[in-house]
Amino acid sequence: MAFWANKTVVVAFGGGIAAYKTLELIRLLREQGARVWPVLTASATQFVTPLTVQALAGHPVYQDLFTPQAADGMDHIRLAQEADLLIIAPATANRIAKLASGLADDLLSALALVRRKPIVLAPAMNSGMWQHPATQRNISQLQADGLLLVGPESGALACGEQGVGRMAEAERILEAGRRLLSPKILLGHRILLTAGPTREELDPVRYISNRSSGRMGWAIAQAALRAGAEVTLIHGAVEMAPPWGAEALAVESAQEMYEATLQQWDKWTRPGQQLSCAILTAAVADYRPASRRASKIKKELDGELSLKLTQNPDILLALGERANRLAQKNRARPLLVGFAAETAETEDAAAQLVPLAKEKLARKGCDLLLLNNVLAPGCAFGSLTNQVTLLHRSGQQEIWPLLAKEEIGERLVQTLQNRL
Ligand code: CTP
Repeated sequence: MAFWANKTVVVAFGGGIAAYKTLELIRLLREQGARVWPVLTASATQFVTPLTVQALAGHPVYQDLFTPQAADGMDHIRLAQEADLLIIAPATANRIAKLASGLADDLLSALALVRRKPIVLAPAMNSGMWQHPATQRNISQLQADGLLLVGPESGALACGEQGVGRMAEAERILEAGRRLLSPKILLGHRILLTAGPTREELDPVRYISNRSSGRMGWAIAQAALRAGAEVTLIHGAVEMAPPWGAEALAVESAQEMYEATLQQWDKWTRPGQQLSCAILTAAVADYRPASRRASKIKKELDGELSLKLTQNPDILLALGERANRLAQKNRARPLLVGFAAETAETEDAAAQLVPLAKEKLARKGCDLLLLNNVLAPGCAFGSLTNQVTLLHRSGQQEIWPLLAKEEIGERLVQTLQNRL
């Protein structure tokens, strides 16, 4: 929320049907506290009216390079220099060609030429136009010039065809802007993350699982990506799409998560590779059914059913051992961050959680451990907030207030930067 507050964003519409999605982008920016200065090209007015854009942006629309109304006739320079970010959406093939060749024959091309600060480009066009060598050449040129490209995506196009050319959704364009403006404090670092619940199959239709939503892991992944890190995210069944730019590996069971995580750890700790950190937020089932029935379990006549469970491997413990082995060989030891979701109903019980968590941190070989009480207000599984205590291996302890998970992710990334 606070990120966009008081930031000024020039949102420039090119002339394409995807302009309706740009209206949503303006709405999102305003909702998050940004100031929006809208620019419409002449052809954009064929798709959206200046009045609609002005009403949503809460600011008059800039349309012309030469306006007697502008105090000094220098709108293009002021817009380019004063805004934090310029977003061009939709960027048509024509607009892209103009930008790539440095033309300055209308307000938008002139302001893009003046600008030395970040520009996000969201192309939208027919797939044939997108794939044409001329467009691809222009796009390569713009990327080399430092513009950030978001999309286009594949799917149904307005022209009736299927293919690449759809403009990225408003949320993704917003995220691209945020990535561009965020300080790159973890640039060059690779982070391995586990997130979400695991599912332990009983039979073809049932499984044992838990209430983890994956939100904490998602928030950390997002914060790390914004900070410039490479993120490998191994996750159980969750409802959210993986954060943009993460290498995501979907698994179901604890055993699958164990195998995938160890494989990724081994891959990224090979000589010549560098894993900076592993963060294990997943709520891994400690037990699985001792055997999976091939067919659906039927109701027993006596009204009871006993299940035999067997213990799953502990991923964090296994990584702790591997990390120690690396250290013994004088190799860089990635930072290991664990979580401990505990339940304490009373204050007395809550006071006992810290010594337990310290023991867990030492036993599993962690450098950092985030402890939370799932029964505390605002800390339930699946909630948008959490209150954690950060324990360092050195014994240092930080009690963080109740925060949005997004903010916990940001604070953790800050802590990692200090430690790495
Ligand atoms: N964890 C893991 N693999 C498991 C179980 C847990 O990697 N099979 C990780 C979790 O992702 C978390 C940490 O270990 O980072 C703590 O999990 P928790 O369930 O609190 O610890 P347990 O060792 O299962 O201890 P407890 O007896 O309290 O359940």
